[in-house]
Amino acid sequence: MDSQAISLVKASFKAVAAVQDGPSTLARNFYALLFARHPEVRDFFPAAMDVQRERLITAIQYAIDRLEDSGQIILYLQQLGRDHRKYGVEDAHYVGVSEALIAAIAEFPSAEPWTDELEQAWRDVLALLSATMMDAANAESGPPAWGATVVEHLQVREDVSITRLQLDEPMDYLAGQYVSVQVPSRPRMWRYLSPANPANDQGIVEFHVRKVSGGWVSPAIVSQTLEGERWLLGSPLGDLKVRNDTDRDILMIGSGTGIAPLRAQILQMAQRGQSRRVHVFFAGRYPCDLYDLGTLWALAEQNPWLTVVPVTEEDEDPWWYRGPSSASLPGMHRRLTGKVGEVVADFGTWAERDIQLIGSESMVKTTKFRLHAAGTPPENIRHDPTY
Ligand SMILES: Cc1cc2nc3c(=O)[nH]c(=O)nc-3n(C[C@H](O)[C@H](O)[C@H](O)COP(=O)(O)OP(=O)(O)OC[C@H]3O[C@@H](n4cnc5c(N)ncnc54)[C@H](O)[C@@H]3O)c2cc1C
Ligand code: HEM
Repeated sequence: MDSQAISLVKASFKAVAAVQDGPSTLARNFYALLFARHPEVRDFFPAAMDVQRERLITAIQYAIDRLEDSGQIILYLQQLGRDHRKYGVEDAHYVGVSEALIAAIAEFPSAEPWTDELEQAWRDVLALLSATMMDAANAESGPPAWGATVVEHLQVREDVSITRLQLDEPMDYLAGQYVSVQVPSRPRMWRYLSPANPANDQGIVEFHVRKVSGGWVSPAIVSQTLEGERWLLGSPLGDLKVRNDTDRDILMIGSGTGIAPLRAQILQMAQRGQSRRVHVFFAGRYPCDLYDLGTLWALAEQNPWLTVVPVTEEDEDPWWYRGPSSASLPGMHRRLTGKVGEVVADFGTWAERDIQLIGSESMVKTTKFRLHAAGTPPENIRHDPTY
């Protein structure tokens, strides 16, 4: 891709971002144009578009920011293209989306004058993104989405559930990846969830979900899921995995249900007879947030390469919590108190480790900062999605 075109497109997106609420205004204008010109695609999208309106624009920005690093961005776009099959997206739709986006940017009152050269640069970039997504989608022989039946649903805390599903056909995801999921009570509101177990021939997949207060989908999953109901799952996404280009020991830090993709990888390492050492810090605000400590502890007892350290910000469960305390199992590593980033950094630099971090955006950012300040090389730290 021509570097002059890339710089023009980057500068034009920067001008949008510089305006207050620029990206959300651009997203609103883009969807208004798209739905006016192509009413047939409106049904692909959820009825309420307020929460996720910017996702497509953010993705385009993410891709444009990394156009020079084509390896990283191609994998992302290929996964996105395969996953877009679940909406019913076909090649022709990419033209409509690209034209609507170009029109929305051209009309945007930004500092960049709209020239033929800028328009051509946008066309080239969007053609490249679209072609990468379409080619991957067209080359894929698996189903556009996997049907699955809920076989078990446990509400393990007031705000956390564990749901096991039987897939209609096994899915070949990598431990650490995530998928988008649609539940029957929330049609077209796809949300990402990370399987907590590795892919298997039986087609059993397990999700751990935490209720986000005020959220559209997670409270419905946690409180209303019924055995026998049918879910839909999109194609596997993400690149979080145990790297096999190094034999460095591993440090995993997971907060709340962020433990799920780490648990999937640990289970897989246990199945394969892992030899590298793995340290896992399982973090939560209260001891009761460590809802899956029992499983991790049982794995640590059976696998000498695995060390599990519980960390909570508060020492006691909240007054309203009435369930069992899982944070003090016999023989287990003493639970440590504090912000997980500080606790982990207090152990040393972890410079020789491959590190995976999963949790909220603020937990990932502060833990990365702490580790970096303690001397951990940033290139050893991985997390998904890219904050
Ligand atoms: C790669 C990836 C993997 C994920 N894996 C899991 C998983 O395994 N288990 C799981 O429970 N969740 C997981 N999530 C989060 C999940 O996809 C949803 O975002 C979350 O369940 C909220 O959806 P909702 O519909 O309830 O809230 P929405 O209706 O989408 O959002 C409602 C409001 O809550 C805010 N909000 C959204 N998410 C959070 C949050 N996590 N914390 C605080 N505020 C939030 C939104 O900004 C919005 O203002 C993952 C997210 C990503 C990006
Ligand atoms: C340049 C090409 C495109 C890019 C980079 C892109 C990117 C994205 C991203 C990142 C998301 C959010 C993640 C997800 O839910 O999977 C998304 C959602 C979506 N995209 Fe695309 N997309 C492109 C083209 C298209 C096309 C051609 C269509 C067809 C009309 C389409 C329809 C959708 C729909 C229906 C959603 C779900 C929105 C929601 O749940 O709110 N996209 N897109």
